[in-house]
Amino acid sequence: MSLPIIIDCDPGIDDAFSLAMAIASDDLEVLGITTTYGNVGLSHTTTNALRVVDWFGADIPVYSGVDRALLGTPVDASEYHGATGLEAPELGPPSSVPQSEDAVSFLIRTLRVSTRKITIVASGPLTNLAVMLRLAPDVAAKIERIVFMGGSTDYGNDSPAAEFNMLCDPHAAQIILDSDIPTTMFGLNVTHQVIATPERVQMLRSIGNDTGRVFADMSVYFEKVYRERYGFNGSALHDSCTLAWLILPELFETRVMRVDVETNSGLSYGRTVHDIWNIAGKVPRTEVAVHADAEGFFTLLKSLLAKLR
Ligand code: BDR
Ligand code: CA
Repeated sequence: MSLPIIIDCDPGIDDAFSLAMAIASDDLEVLGITTTYGNVGLSHTTTNALRVVDWFGADIPVYSGVDRALLGTPVDASEYHGATGLEAPELGPPSSVPQSEDAVSFLIRTLRVSTRKITIVASGPLTNLAVMLRLAPDVAAKIERIVFMGGSTDYGNDSPAAEFNMLCDPHAAQIILDSDIPTTMFGLNVTHQVIATPERVQMLRSIGNDTGRVFADMSVYFEKVYRERYGFNGSALHDSCTLAWLILPELFETRVMRVDVETNSGLSYGRTVHDIWNIAGKVPRTEVAVHADAEGFFTLLKSLLAKLR
């Protein structure tokens, strides 16, 4: 039986990889895609989600969400993903439009009527999910788990201390972490272990289908900043770790601990704080990924992309 999921994302190159993996996987049933501002503005991320879904001919509704953080100054990641967030001309413009219902209403309605618990996969700022919990705290009981990309047990990428998704909306992230919903976190400490090196990109290209070629090109576009700023031998496919874990959890080592986010201004604004010794005595609810089997990840990615057009 496949796992029912909703993907909340800001595509975004690595978000697009996640969408492709979810569409290809027989283990997952994607009930809907909700979009958030993040890498670029909401109108671009929504268009990009539709472009990916339509290019694959997938029958998945897309709902547009919140266009800014609860508090704080807007940031974006267009230097990584390009001005529109997904510079992949071959995907073309979308052939469909977003649903008229907004993302938060869709989440609340779907969770309330569902007879099964639903897993939410989040790969952007957590604003939609925080607004959902504030409007409808009852839906928490219907959420199996929130699997999110964000934070880091060590350093940041958009400030010295903070990872981009957390820095966009630390208050929203703290609302999620304060709820009693189980969470799994894929932070930079583990996503930086999953690098699309030239050899791995060539492996994707060698699949020989349109998907392998177009997604190989996307990851090459993505790697410029990773080479220049971090000295990495390729881009990090951050968001795709969430999907890979749902499909093949043995690819990752995790450790349960309490995680909070710094919401006060200052040098550490947006940083995740990891209480590995349970010093604060709060309930540890987050399974934090600490190690990735990168070869296994790319083998899985290749096998999934090979199933697509
Ligand atoms: C995260 O920030 C975004 O640019 C990526 O899509 C990913 O979700 C990495 O810090
Ligand atoms: Ca993202």
